[in-house]
Amino acid sequence: MSGIERTASRTAVLVCQARAAADGRLAVGRFADPVAARMLRPAERVPVDEVRAGAPAEAESWKDRAAYESVRACAEIMVPRTVAIDDALRAHPSPQLVVLGAGLDTRAWRLAELADTDVWEVDHPASQQDKQDRLADPGPLLATARSVRFTPVDFTADDLGSALRAAGHDASVPTTWLWEGVVPYLTRADVRTTVRAVVGSSAPGSTLVLNYQGPSLKASVGRLVARVLSSSVTAKEPWRSLWKPQQMAALLTGNGLRVVSDEDLLAISERLESGARGRASLRSGRVAVALTGHR
Ligand SMILES: C[S@@+](CC[C@H](N)C(=O)[O-])C[C@H]1O[C@@H](n2cnc3c(N)ncnc32)[C@H](O)[C@@H]1O
Repeated sequence: MSGIERTASRTAVLVCQARAAADGRLAVGRFADPVAARMLRPAERVPVDEVRAGAPAEAESWKDRAAYESVRACAEIMVPRTVAIDDALRAHPSPQLVVLGAGLDTRAWRLAELADTDVWEVDHPASQQDKQDRLADPGPLLATARSVRFTPVDFTADDLGSALRAAGHDASVPTTWLWEGVVPYLTRADVRTTVRAVVGSSAPGSTLVLNYQGPSLKASVGRLVARVLSSSVTAKEPWRSLWKPQQMAALLTGNGLRVVSDEDLLAISERLESGARGRASLRSGRVAVALTGHR
């Protein structure tokens, strides 16, 4: 197995910190992720606690201040993204859920609606090992899903369909696929290959819930500045592909999927009235839902 990312994903930690920071504070009643904090190491909880307290600690280094700002800004994005995806999963249940690039996703330990669903968490092997260590410490965390299977896959090198088959996924049974926060880190060619693999392992009645990033000069510049300031979190995980909605729709429909919704995070955030400030990042993030069996 080869791949560009050889250590556990740091962006997976950042989005988990952001969900932990937002839990019980933003869009209360619509957004909740009480499991996120449990996934974090003590040092990773420091900026989370500061964001929850509403201010960074006094006399912080610029690096700590940058960590605080990253978690605060990312929390604004994670709220509409999580709510839209949770709603889509509830609206399109299947006996099988495959979470592509799962990172520190908590849904298999958080959503009661998955009690009759088998979950496959697919991720880069290093990220997956890191998650399993976190789940075991301080004691095993009980899943709300019927089962959770960890399936190591590098989207740039491995055959997703055969890896899932070997892990017990049944391509003749409908599957809900979740692909959140991963597309920007893959090249266009790897995104195309993965969509083909998803369709190839999907029985009729399957659903793809997809989060991707549209082009935005302001969001890209913001990300560049964040990279320069906090070097560690995003520097090793650069964006490789941004998709206009019509480009993504062409890719999905070209593979026999029917797009039933595709909305930007700003619109979702405004409906939630979560008081977000970073409009450019929200406007370029999107959640789409597409159904299989429409070729
Ligand atoms: C920003 S994190 C998102 C994690 C999770 N989906 C979420 O939204 O909380 C990106 C995830 O994509 C995974 N990833 C990136 N490139 C990958 C690759 N080539 N193969 C498998 N997973 C990859 C990383 O390991 C990481 O878990």
